[in-house]
Amino acid sequence: MNSSTVTLHVPQRSKVAGKLDFLQMLSGVLLILFLWAHLLLVSSVILSPRLMNAIAWFFEATYMAQVGGPIIFALMLFHFILAGRKMPFQTNEQRAFIKHAGMLRHKDTWLWLAQVVTALVILVMASIHMYVILTDLPITAQKSAARIQHGWLTFYLLLLPMAEIHVGVGFYRIGVKYGFITRENRRWFQRAENVMMIGFIAVGLLTLTRFMFLDLI
Ligand code: HEM
Repeated sequence: MNSSTVTLHVPQRSKVAGKLDFLQMLSGVLLILFLWAHLLLVSSVILSPRLMNAIAWFFEATYMAQVGGPIIFALMLFHFILAGRKMPFQTNEQRAFIKHAGMLRHKDTWLWLAQVVTALVILVMASIHMYVILTDLPITAQKSAARIQHGWLTFYLLLLPMAEIHVGVGFYRIGVKYGFITRENRRWFQRAENVMMIGFIAVGLLTLTRFMFLDLI
C-alpha cells in the first residue's frame, strides 16, 4: 500500500464516523423530546384521571400508540447500537477506562460513565415497560394506578431517575460536542440542566404519588 492510498482512506472513514455520530445525536434528541412529552402527558393524571384517559384515547384512536410505540422502541435500539460503538464491553476495556478516569479526575469522563451505566439500565427497563403497556391497551389511569399500587412502584422509582440522568447528561454532552456549550457558558448550562433534571424528576414523582393514591374502583 502506498502513502496516497492511506491519505484517501482516512478522511473517508472519519466521514462515516461523523455521519454515525450525527445520527446518534439526532436519535438521542428525538428520544429526549419523546421522554419530555411522555412525562408531561402521563402527568395529566395529577390534574384529572379523566384528562389522562382522554389523552390516552386520542393516542389510541389515531393509532399513534400502536404505531408510535414500536417506532420509539426501534429508535431506542438504533440509538443504543450507535452509542454502543464506543462503550467498553470487554472487561479489560472497562478496567482500563476506570483506571484512566480515576487518574484523570475529569468530570466529563465520569459523566460519560454515568451515561453508559444508565443506558444499559434503561435499555432493559424501558423495553419491559413498553412491552407491558403496549400489550395491555387501552391505557387508562385506573389500570396504571393498579399497576403502580400492586408492585410496579419500585420499578418506576428506579427507571425515572435513570432516564432523567441519561437525558440530562446526554443533552450536556451533545452541547459540548456540537459547540453550543462553551467554556464561558458551561456553568450556566450545567445549572440549567440540573434544574431541568430535578424538575422532571419532581413531576414524575408527583405523577407516581397521584397513581398511588388513586381510588381503584
Ligand atoms: C411508546 C412507549 C411508551 C408508552 C406508551 C408509555 C406509557 C406509560 C404509561 C401509561 C405510564 C403510566 C404507568 C403505567 O401505566 O404503568 C408510564 C409511566 C412511566 N414511563 Fe412510560 N411509556 C413509554 C415509553 C417509555 C420510555 C421509553 C421510558 C423511559 C426511557 C418511560 C418511562 C416511564 C416512567 C419513568 C414512568 C413512571 C411515571 C412517571 O414518572 O411519569 N416510558 N409510561
